[in-house]
Amino acid sequence: MIAKFIRPELLKIKKYTPSPTLQEIERDIGIPMDKIIKCDSGENLYSEKYQNKKNLQKVKLYLYPDPFCRNLRKKLALYTGVGEEWIMYGNGSDELIDLLIRVFVSPKDVIIINPPTFPMYEFYGQLSGAKVQKVLRKENLNINIEDIFEKITLNTKMIFIDSPGNPSSVVVTKENIKKLLAKKTIVVVDEAYYEYCNQTVIPLIYQYSNLIVLRSLSKWSGLAGLRIGYLVASPEIIKILLTIKPPYNVNSLAQEMACSVLDKKERFLREIKKVVDCRKILLKQLSRFLNLKVYPSQGAYVIFQPQNQAKQLQEFLRKNGILVKYINQPLLENCLRINLLKQKEINKLDFFLRRFYEM
Ligand SMILES: Cc1ncc(COP(=O)(O)O)c(C=O)c1O
Repeated sequence: MIAKFIRPELLKIKKYTPSPTLQEIERDIGIPMDKIIKCDSGENLYSEKYQNKKNLQKVKLYLYPDPFCRNLRKKLALYTGVGEEWIMYGNGSDELIDLLIRVFVSPKDVIIINPPTFPMYEFYGQLSGAKVQKVLRKENLNINIEDIFEKITLNTKMIFIDSPGNPSSVVVTKENIKKLLAKKTIVVVDEAYYEYCNQTVIPLIYQYSNLIVLRSLSKWSGLAGLRIGYLVASPEIIKILLTIKPPYNVNSLAQEMACSVLDKKERFLREIKKVVDCRKILLKQLSRFLNLKVYPSQGAYVIFQPQNQAKQLQEFLRKNGILVKYINQPLLENCLRINLLKQKEINKLDFFLRRFYEM
């Protein structure tokens, strides 16, 4: 009875499948949650000890949050090196993807995405009734500029580029971003994992008013549970985003905690550097298993393909308290994706991989 009232295009939407919670896993496999290595969603396993939660006690929860995130915006401006009027904030960068599509994309307009890529661009694109044009990356997981150019038409409103990509872990060069910007469509460069590669296109925003750089505090600062994202774009874009956003889109605890992390950013960034320094070790350990095809990584993930055994290996690791993500996208079929890890967790992974392959 109700189905006939629902917008027909919504009935076809592929829903996003989130990873199970630690509680669910603990119940299922019988390993206490503090012994589980959850490396399937890019969450930061190593930052919690630096988070100062004392100030959260002072937050007045009976009051609505600051709708303009004044303190947070100031600190984000300082962090990114731009003026406050170039900063917009959101309930995770997920909300900002949604808001951007609402601002720029009408039903039947086209957005271009570059699989393998972050699935939420397609999800929100479909929600808005847009046509989602997929332009496959190259074999080496770089974006295919020539193919993108071929697909750009007058109806193309936005191009989403994740850099470093999820799951590709490839950084798109500034030159390629400039080539796309020259085409005069809106280009959203999603730098959710910027802190893992230190390459940004933010300085280009002064030159290109069609550039939007999306960022997140979920990963490097370990605040995935509070949902804080932001973006850097021209004040003209920020103004319209501020007009259409929900009034209180970032809650008070999130604002307080994000400010506190930004005040102590060096600690968090030092921790990220340690994890990034271990990337070589993780890649090397994985490459020792002849049954695994390991992809290069410039980002926060490592992808490997266990030759038709991805699901079995994922389940074996899960039973032993290591959670990795199953990826099945074009060019990355039947693969597993794992966060960057430190030595102790790499050793544990190595131990169970040896058991799986009986080495
Ligand atoms: C490329 C990319 N962009 C955006 C997001 C969303 O991040 P947030 O937690 O800020 O919504 C993710 C999360 O995994 C991501 O991988």
